[in-house]
Amino acid sequence: MIGLIDGLALPLMRMLDPERAHRLALAGMKLLPARAIVEDERFAVAAFGLKFPNPLGLAAGLDKNAEAVDATFRLGFGFAEIGTVTPRPQAGNARPRLFRLDADQAVVNRLGFNNDGAEAASARLAARAGHGGIVGVNIGANRDSPDRGADYVALVTAFAPFASYLTVNVSSPNTPGLRDLQQASALDELLARVLAARDTAAKSAAKTARPIPVLIKIAPDLTLADLDDLVGVARRRAIDGMIVGNTTTSRPPTLRDIRAYEQGGLSGRPLFSLSTRMLAETFVRVEGRFPLIGVGGIDSGAAAFAKIKAGATLIQLYTGLVFRGLRLVGEIKSDLVNFLRLGRYDALSDAVGVDAAAMTAEPWPG
Ligand SMILES: Cc1cc2nc3c(=O)[nH]c(=O)nc-3n(C[C@H](O)[C@H](O)[C@H](O)COP(=O)(O)O)c2cc1C
Repeated sequence: MIGLIDGLALPLMRMLDPERAHRLALAGMKLLPARAIVEDERFAVAAFGLKFPNPLGLAAGLDKNAEAVDATFRLGFGFAEIGTVTPRPQAGNARPRLFRLDADQAVVNRLGFNNDGAEAASARLAARAGHGGIVGVNIGANRDSPDRGADYVALVTAFAPFASYLTVNVSSPNTPGLRDLQQASALDELLARVLAARDTAAKSAAKTARPIPVLIKIAPDLTLADLDDLVGVARRRAIDGMIVGNTTTSRPPTLRDIRAYEQGGLSGRPLFSLSTRMLAETFVRVEGRFPLIGVGGIDSGAAAFAKIKAGATLIQLYTGLVFRGLRLVGEIKSDLVNFLRLGRYDALSDAVGVDAAAMTAEPWPG
């Protein structure tokens, strides 16, 4: 069925404008029939107190409004991340704001957190609450908010009852000033408020409620000095994990498509090298205090395994689906089984970070 949808839809989607193709892809995912998914037991991953059936998740941005969570699991993903959700609904930037770089297998977006708002997304999550699956909620501030910290606090409170984990997105390039929240003092203050709200939410829930894991999602464009400071803050505040990372505002010189010059965040294959290096740099600084989710340019089993060896306990993807289709999820999982066998690993978790030290000793990728 997935092969059939890909065979029909991929050529058609290439002909559509990217936003229409995106809406069609979400609608197509929802048509997927329920099926029993048997996971290889070597894929099981424990992180943030959660048990993931496999380490491959859907990255934030495809399902901003929690419309296709069950379909994400039917595709074979081990977890879903919805959002970015802002407190109030928001239209986002003017169109066109989404560009497919076919020659580079990449996307540039400057959507600007277009979403239905917290009330709509939390209602959808509440409606599927009994269906299971690990669902992270990626949260962000409204563009015109006078107090961005207050937005994150409100979102923690709104989503704590429905989310498996929360991702504090401080790395979207499309909301002016948002990335400044990655600076050490701003991040420290933000995390203090977010973690206090998280603890309050846990206390007001059932007595046994465990505080919901809080992750932060960072940009791949930080300097290593900024990364030192950021990881220092994250460790002191004892956050539960970090996602490395978001789209890049940089433009690798290898890009060929003219749309590369559109303003916005670049994702997909050309992001792989930078984001994987940043992942390894983060891994060596975190020293095992919390797990990392590696994202950026995963479009094959080899790329997925490279992320794990660079330091990712879990991985996510988005743009790979645009070019390789829905079958990519199954392909990556079957390739990972082969990589485990070839590397004589008993479990994927044994491969996490094995290449990080060697990678960070290499010259910076140019
Ligand atoms: C169209 C589009 C929209 C995105 N929207 C969000 C978002 O709302 N929040 C977020 O944290 N990341 C967002 N991302 C970033 C992805 O989650 C991911 O970090 C990035 O695209 C790199 O992964 P990839 O190369 O597999 O796409 C978006 C990416 C794309 C392509």
